[in-house]
Amino acid sequence: SSSTEEESESSGDSEPEEATAAQPGGSTGTNTMHLPPAPSEAKNPAPTLQPPPSGTSAPSESLASAPPLPLAKPAVFIPVNRSPEMQEERLKLPILAEEQVIMEAVAEHPIVIVCGETGSGKTTQVPQFLYEAGYSSEDSIIGVTEPRRVAAVAMSQRVAKEMNLSQRVVSYQIRYEGNVTEETRIKFMTDGVLLKEIQKDFLLLKYKVVIIDEAHERSVYTDILLGLLSRIVALRTKRHLPLKLLIMSATLRVEDFTQNKRLFTTPPPVIKVESRQFPVTVHFNKRTPLDDYSGECFRKICKIHRMLPAGGILVFLTGQAEVHALCRRLRKAFPTRCSQPQEKEEEKDSAEGMRRFKKSRTRAKKAQAMALPQINLDNYSVLPAGEGDEDREAEMDDEEEALGSDLDLDLGDSEANEGEQPDASLPLHVLPLYSLLAPEKQAQVFKPPPEGTRLCVVATNVAETSLTIPGIKYVVDCGKVKKRYYDRVTGVSSFRVTWVSQASADQRAGRAGRTEPGHCYRLYSSAVFGDFEQFPPPEITRRPVEDLILQMKALNIEKVINFPFPTPPSVEALIAAEELLIALGALQAPRKDERLKTLQISQLSCPITALGQTMSTFPVAPRYAKMLALSQQHGCLPYTIAIVAAMTVRELFEELDRPAASEEELAELKGRRARVAQMKRTWAGQGASLKLGDLMVLLGAVGACEYSGCSPQFCHANGLRYKAMLEIRRLRGQLTTAVNAVCPEAGLFLDPKMQPPTESQVTYLRQIMAAGLGDHLARRVQNEDLLDPKWKNAYKTPLLDDPVFIHPSSVLFRELPEFVVYQEIVETTKMYMKGVSTVEIQWIPSLLPSYCQFDAPLEEPAPTYCPESGRVLCHRASVFYRVGWPLPAVQVD
Ligand code: CDP
Ligand code: MG
Repeated sequence: SSSTEEESESSGDSEPEEATAAQPGGSTGTNTMHLPPAPSEAKNPAPTLQPPPSGTSAPSESLASAPPLPLAKPAVFIPVNRSPEMQEERLKLPILAEEQVIMEAVAEHPIVIVCGETGSGKTTQVPQFLYEAGYSSEDSIIGVTEPRRVAAVAMSQRVAKEMNLSQRVVSYQIRYEGNVTEETRIKFMTDGVLLKEIQKDFLLLKYKVVIIDEAHERSVYTDILLGLLSRIVALRTKRHLPLKLLIMSATLRVEDFTQNKRLFTTPPPVIKVESRQFPVTVHFNKRTPLDDYSGECFRKICKIHRMLPAGGILVFLTGQAEVHALCRRLRKAFPTRCSQPQEKEEEKDSAEGMRRFKKSRTRAKKAQAMALPQINLDNYSVLPAGEGDEDREAEMDDEEEALGSDLDLDLGDSEANEGEQPDASLPLHVLPLYSLLAPEKQAQVFKPPPEGTRLCVVATNVAETSLTIPGIKYVVDCGKVKKRYYDRVTGVSSFRVTWVSQASADQRAGRAGRTEPGHCYRLYSSAVFGDFEQFPPPEITRRPVEDLILQMKALNIEKVINFPFPTPPSVEALIAAEELLIALGALQAPRKDERLKTLQISQLSCPITALGQTMSTFPVAPRYAKMLALSQQHGCLPYTIAIVAAMTVRELFEELDRPAASEEELAELKGRRARVAQMKRTWAGQGASLKLGDLMVLLGAVGACEYSGCSPQFCHANGLRYKAMLEIRRLRGQLTTAVNAVCPEAGLFLDPKMQPPTESQVTYLRQIMAAGLGDHLARRVQNEDLLDPKWKNAYKTPLLDDPVFIHPSSVLFRELPEFVVYQEIVETTKMYMKGVSTVEIQWIPSLLPSYCQFDAPLEEPAPTYCPESGRVLCHRASVFYRVGWPLPAVQVD
């Protein structure tokens, strides 16, 4: 920055005013109310923003020589040398009208909320306002968080371009890549990246301003960041190193932030940016198509393209594969000269994108089975210091297949019977848009389409609020979104397609009215719309929180109950989470002699253990993470990974119990059921291996399927769901990478076709499963308890009063072992346990001490199992199970 630049900036000052007067927005006549007045930068800058007169020393010098500034006063005015075209573009944005208001609020308040319609210029302009007002220097920069990678990359590029600066100055950082340099002044990043930085430097001293963008999305990590930052801001103020926090949000439910006294004691000022939104006519479908919404999209686009005046089309679908399939179909129908090669390239890029998440090591590990049939509970892999949460961000791109998904509609069929070949007079410039698309390809959507073509962007919900695509006049909304779904019983997450909320649907419609009046075609009826939820509930309220609590403890946030969540999870959810984590050994129990009682609210402050640190790095629920952490012994890891992957995928087997429509179908179903039952018995084996039960079946099915080359034929013949098997394969790769990150010396190599485990490995695996599923322990009701016939063959669990049974589909259905652990309970005619494995009674005190009651205080060392005598060694005479268990004491030495 030199004085000449300042001069060129100030001499340009008079131009924008004229440009403003002649704004196209003013001539439309549809919305004269919200015309932005001349931006403050064109008027006299606010008194505090007095630029140094030209010819004086460079801004950084004046900053260094100035006496310490009073809190929050911007330091200097940093000139930006924008191109006249860019400047003209900017001046059209509604937020420019609010620059002075925003900057005054920022100067006076530590925390400011800016909310405004998508496209009003929040993301691209506010960082520039702050930069110009001197809120960045060599050692303290402006940070901007985005919940999505696409936005972090695209916005850094856009802002650099607008400011005529290189990406060395306006940079981005996402999990796998970034271009931050010493010169960086504005840094766009995902919220996961900032959370990780807080782990290393709690005060975030590197930043002078942090902007939390897209706060309305209420992603769990954004919510936690807001809670943390509310405290960090206070600490920084105390130390006279003020940090400014800006929260930017679309116009949705700001009250969660402003009315929450625990989050912000004084409600921060809210600056509303009025936007110039043109009217959008919403058209509902008469009927709601059941499944083929992609086909419906295709037909609607054809109609729009053939019959309606010029203007870009934006289509909302739910996932990457769907987006590609529709692009392919559209390009075939309306070819342009370059569509074919482009498509190949895009798909290559997306494959490359996926690969980036799956770099896995290739060094093989020799399995070394040892003779002792007892796993070592202290033998868990522990992270090298300073590393962690490697996969946190990979989990957050919600619409993508981080864990795989079987929801990508197969468009193959519909493509084949393309009856209506539209007349392809005007070429359609078809572009995909989704999170994992290469950044250069994403940038394509912001460019004007080639002369004589119509732009058609096929997008996932990244286009809903994060990115604004210019020139869109028509929106086609399938009404669906791919969402992470959490299973309350297993805590396992998967991706499902659900209806969006009314607020989201309206956001999508609004995309059509950015530059002129537009139309939104909803592929569902108004009645269906009426049934949509009003707002999407914050993520944190619709999922179990044990994984989240583990992540927070890994950040050394011990008293989670006091944490200022914007919307807190319920106290019951917090207690349940903390108890489970203590039982798993991820958290230290409050006091040894109190470990049997239910936790009190005041005790929700247990610190994390080394085991918990390790567990926090695996992208699976804590029960499964415990299994993985324990498996780095006796060559068990590949097996545990396969079992965990298979347990995480729901419904491995096809539903064959369905009612048949005809005699033939019934016969076929019966035949297949018999075949599946036979295969299950084969996979489960006999003797030691059968004791691993249904988990052995999972292992056998995964191995056998890989031997067959994972063919659809094999899956069909054996009643396995093909998509589930593919998903398992993907997840095994991901977990292998995660384990290698924790424990590089393991050099684990994913061998899809595993050798079957040895007999002693099966025993270790049973212990590992029991250690992870400890709260899912059940004991067969003894004969003497059989007063009531309803308890015949029944099991008792600590939490349920009613009898539970082994599911008839289980290979242990006829075995009826005394102690079992189960993966989940499903309720149909009775309560059935699924995913059952047997547990030896003598393992319970050592593997699951928190589920036992000892008749004397627990002393060190913990009870151990002695293989020679087959007995449990500990200093107490007997072990009881948890209060409420109708169980006898177990005698131990
Ligand atoms: O954050 P907010 O939704 O309020 O708006 P923004 O993302 O800052 O976008 C402001 C304007 O910049 C939009 O109208 C976009 O069309 C435009 N823009 C662009 O032309 N090219 C980009 N790469 C990004 C934004
Ligand atoms: Mg934005």
